[in-house]
Amino acid sequence: MKAVNIGLIGLGTVGSGTLSVLQRNAEEITRRAGRQIHVIAAAVQDISKPRAVDTSALHLTRDPFEIVNHPDIEIVVELVGGDNMPLEAVMTALDNGKHIVTANKALIALHGNDIFEKAQNKGLVVAFEAAVAGGIPIIKSIREGLSANRIEWLAGIINGTSNYILTQMEESGRDFNDVLAEAQALGYAEADPSFDIDGTDAAHKLTILASIAFGISLQFENVYREGITEISSEDITHARELGYRIKHLGIARKTDNGVELRVHPTLIPQKRLIANVDGVMNAILVQSDAVGPTLYYGAGAGSEPTASAVVADLIDVVRTITTDPGNRVPHLAFHPDAIIDLPILPMDEIETAYYLRMSVINQPGVMASIAMIFGDSDISIDTILQKGSGQPNENVTIIMLTQNTRERNLVKALKQVESLNTVNGRVMRVRIEQLS
Ligand code: HSE
Repeated sequence: MKAVNIGLIGLGTVGSGTLSVLQRNAEEITRRAGRQIHVIAAAVQDISKPRAVDTSALHLTRDPFEIVNHPDIEIVVELVGGDNMPLEAVMTALDNGKHIVTANKALIALHGNDIFEKAQNKGLVVAFEAAVAGGIPIIKSIREGLSANRIEWLAGIINGTSNYILTQMEESGRDFNDVLAEAQALGYAEADPSFDIDGTDAAHKLTILASIAFGISLQFENVYREGITEISSEDITHARELGYRIKHLGIARKTDNGVELRVHPTLIPQKRLIANVDGVMNAILVQSDAVGPTLYYGAGAGSEPTASAVVADLIDVVRTITTDPGNRVPHLAFHPDAIIDLPILPMDEIETAYYLRMSVINQPGVMASIAMIFGDSDISIDTILQKGSGQPNENVTIIMLTQNTRERNLVKALKQVESLNTVNGRVMRVRIEQLS
């Protein structure tokens, strides 16, 4: 059968990994896809830049629109990230009848509804496995492997950079900025590293996961976002002592009142497998009604791990090119006319437990006044620890774990606690999930 011609937009970390994997595993890939996959052209920022991968058989251009308008290219692989030029390039490619493979989570989370509508109308495929959790085939697992199930919730470590930073802070006691610089040097971080540490990258990925898990439209704007910048080594140590580890999680949960969509640091019991996912590795725990919990683990970033997902998508697209568009796996797992709009819960409606750390003056009655505020706010305390010299009138650290409560109650209670003149500054708060 005739080879399929591919054009790449981007030959950076993921693009060069993709080219390398396609070249190295060409024979096996052809046996799987049923046709040869030829990369004939690539758009790059700097044509003369020396590269670790062999580009001698490719036409290199600085213009991504040369790729999307190229008459011989059937599949455009978009690997540059960001959402301005890629959106225009992808929409133009679809207008020109080309299938798309992308690793761009921002593009899918922000513009996926429009992109899929256009692709659907034109009978084209947009594949995006590499957009979530790098090399882990989580899109395929949820969309196809779990399609018999009603998915109840999922919780994932879906930003490798945050996980790398938290792990390094815990293992080596190094400070946040030092470890962030290392993650950037290793090629894990986003071009704009604030997206990794402020939760935006994880929110992009959670948007996509929630959509395919629950059959709802993509709604990034409704995801609650909190990053890891406030977490200190002290919190990591206290959490450990209490039998927990702090992980940055994306959580999507279907409740009777609506869907929770939230990204934030979370204490999880050390004994859970997902609590032991370290470094740049990602993992997603999916709770479904028939199979129960399933856990997906692997490299969430990096050149060839992400390329693994890109090339798997390419093989899928090549296989489906000849199938009837009406009978393909739907982009968002559910048929487009079966996508529903469930309400997304505001954060103050969610119920969870909390780790609290506060600095207080060591005096009789301080703990009682804090406990009274919690009692009046219907918050039940689970554990209390006091750290410090124990000398009268000196500052001591109080660590508290609460039982499940509504976030609205906790926010109100913390305002009152912070206004006590025996409490110094702000109370540090991290949510706790048992994930059982
Ligand atoms: N910056 C991302 C991460 C890369 O750290 O997980 C993969 O999307």
